[in-house]
Amino acid sequence: MSVISVEHLSKEYQIAKKEKGLRGAVKNLFVARKTIVRAVNDISFSIEKGEIVGFIGPNGAGKSTTVKMMSGILTPSSGHVYVNGTDPQKERIKVVQDLGVVFGQRTQLNWDLRMGESFEMLKHIYRIDSGLYEENMAMMNEILGINEFLDTPARQLSLGQRMRGDLVAAMLHSPSVLFLDEPTIGLDVDGKYAIRKFIKEMNRKKQTTIILTTHDLGDIQELCERLIIINHGIIMEDGPLEELIDRIAPYKNLVVEYFDENAVEHEKAIILSHVGNMVTYRFQKADLTAAQLIHDISAQMRIKDVTIEEAKIDDIIRIAYGGKENGEKE
Ligand SMILES: Nc1ncnc2c1ncn2[C@@H]1O[C@H](COP(=O)(O)OP(=O)(O)OP(=O)(O)O)[C@@H](O)[C@H]1O
Ligand SMILES: [Mg+2]
Repeated sequence: MSVISVEHLSKEYQIAKKEKGLRGAVKNLFVARKTIVRAVNDISFSIEKGEIVGFIGPNGAGKSTTVKMMSGILTPSSGHVYVNGTDPQKERIKVVQDLGVVFGQRTQLNWDLRMGESFEMLKHIYRIDSGLYEENMAMMNEILGINEFLDTPARQLSLGQRMRGDLVAAMLHSPSVLFLDEPTIGLDVDGKYAIRKFIKEMNRKKQTTIILTTHDLGDIQELCERLIIINHGIIMEDGPLEELIDRIAPYKNLVVEYFDENAVEHEKAIILSHVGNMVTYRFQKADLTAAQLIHDISAQMRIKDVTIEEAKIDDIIRIAYGGKENGEKE
């Protein structure tokens, strides 16, 4: 049984459409015109125990809507979600026991309570055994350093401190599944580092299954073995990041600095540019390795320096979202 199973899930929002102008304003008083936004459109996927999955896509793609349906906060228009075999709509209490959720844009901590008091409250709500509570607090403090803010009311915490607190709050009851919606948004370098470390540790130590949405390429590169890419409510890609890179950019470039202005040709590489002593070769990863290319050309002409260029992750992601390749006409 998969930890998460999403089957033909859709969500439509009804929004009131206002007519413009004075005439419209009068009309709006009498008839509320509705339009329908199909935020999530028949998506299906499943996630196995211990996976870290990046659920990514451009703004407005339907990520948060999906996360809210998976955690039982929002009712699907159609389709099903199962968390460890249970439907969060039907058995919310059971699912919540096994689920941690963090929305980076909104805190779950009580604004007026000291952070430690919020944790104590959760301890009671989830009936967390004292031994486990102490153990979890100690482990999480080691990575996130939250002990120094335990006496600070949530409203006085900085964004980074608050986000650390939210992660602890989500994981105190040792759920087997963690949903993170933009957990590193707005954080500085140290904050992002701590949160990525936390995600890796929870996954490694407790086999926590983690789904995260993010716009941060560092999060994607460092954390996500698998990516599910959504756009306009539809799944565009689902698979390992490595596979995506190999499919979108099945080539590498080798930049060679020669001692003089002549360049060696190679049957399995094309010359992209040749300026003075600098020559850029492009080769298909399936046909040739950089080591072989360097070996072959240096046998014919002395070379001074080489650099291997891989496709940039931001270009890969942009193209996967439906963007154009460089040089392609819009
Ligand atoms: N409560 C709502 N009422 C009406 N429309 C909504 C509501 N929430 C979201 N939408 C619409 O649904 C679509 C998907 O929104 P969603 O918040 O799921 O996107 P997202 O992928 O999380 O985007 P972002 O990266 O900006 O957070 C958008 O077109 C949005 O305007
Ligand atoms: Mg969102």
